[in-house]
Amino acid sequence: MIEQFKADVANGLSATPKSLLSKYFYDEIGDKLFVQIMHMPEYYLTDAEMEIFEHQADKLATLLAPTTGTFDLIELGAGDGTKTVHLLKELQKHREFCYKPIDISSHALASLKDFLQSELPDLKVETQQGDYFEVLKGIADNGNPKAILFLGSNMGNMLDHNAKRFLSSLDNAMNAEDKLLLGLDLKKKREVVLPAYNDAAGITKAFNLNLLTRINNELGGNFDVDSFEHAPEYNEEEGVAKSYIRSKVDQEVRIDSLGESYYFEKGERIHMEISRKYNEEILNAILGDTSLVLQEVIKDSKNLFADFILTKQST
Ligand SMILES: C[S@@+](CC[C@H](N)C(=O)[O-])C[C@H]1O[C@@H](n2cnc3c(N)ncnc32)[C@H](O)[C@@H]1O
Repeated sequence: MIEQFKADVANGLSATPKSLLSKYFYDEIGDKLFVQIMHMPEYYLTDAEMEIFEHQADKLATLLAPTTGTFDLIELGAGDGTKTVHLLKELQKHREFCYKPIDISSHALASLKDFLQSELPDLKVETQQGDYFEVLKGIADNGNPKAILFLGSNMGNMLDHNAKRFLSSLDNAMNAEDKLLLGLDLKKKREVVLPAYNDAAGITKAFNLNLLTRINNELGGNFDVDSFEHAPEYNEEEGVAKSYIRSKVDQEVRIDSLGESYYFEKGERIHMEISRKYNEEILNAILGDTSLVLQEVIKDSKNLFADFILTKQST
């Protein structure tokens, strides 16, 4: 893990333009900051998807579970599970299933396990720590039908060509009766989107800058975090938000474990994260020639966010 982190940081900081991978946001502090972001008034995404899970869990359960028999409910990037728990409660009323959350963060998985143990002590849970791109390849086909959850606009963090590849590998991992739920933020106006990535309390800023602190702590970096600022953007036409960290001064940063120094000009940016906003047309274009098709779109009452249910096209 640390070797991969080193390699990814070295690649990202030697590239032009510089970039870092958003999956490294989630260390112990990053996990906590993300939970705070989800509670920021500007971060409408969580409330909107939460409303769907709170008020339409019965519909989700009917669409995702097979009509008879047991199944596996696999969640990619499960996080704190506070939305999923509503679906789990609904499913537990009349379905037999095993919940299999996958997350790169062992802290997130440990607190998810504690949370589920107190909320749903009888639930069958099998956690798996790892990168979902890797874990996905090894999703054992144990013969049970599966429903795969990918909530929280997580797929929005992928560039379109990566989302395409990702959906194509999900398609390959799925059998005819399997289901996929993609929770995606809907394309909308700048006035609504941009504040979600630039909250007034500065939590998103702290979340982005924490990755520099993580590099300092884990890779022996000497980033002077205060000499960088958070600079998000949203292109309304494209429907893509991008988060950057920008150097406030000309400076050099040493990362001991990489044996390298990196030069930053004043105003130079490090690309941190992309958040693509979707609609049916964009999703269909990204589904491309996979055999996945849209079965149902479930939106919150303000039409901010959608859970798209996909199934394999019958041939
Ligand atoms: C944006 S949060 C979403 C959490 C939750 N699904 C929700 O909707 O509230 C992203 C979660 O995905 C995990 N994650 C991010 N990149 C990952 C990756 N490549 N593989 C596995 N988990 C990842 C993070 O640790 C974090 O818990």
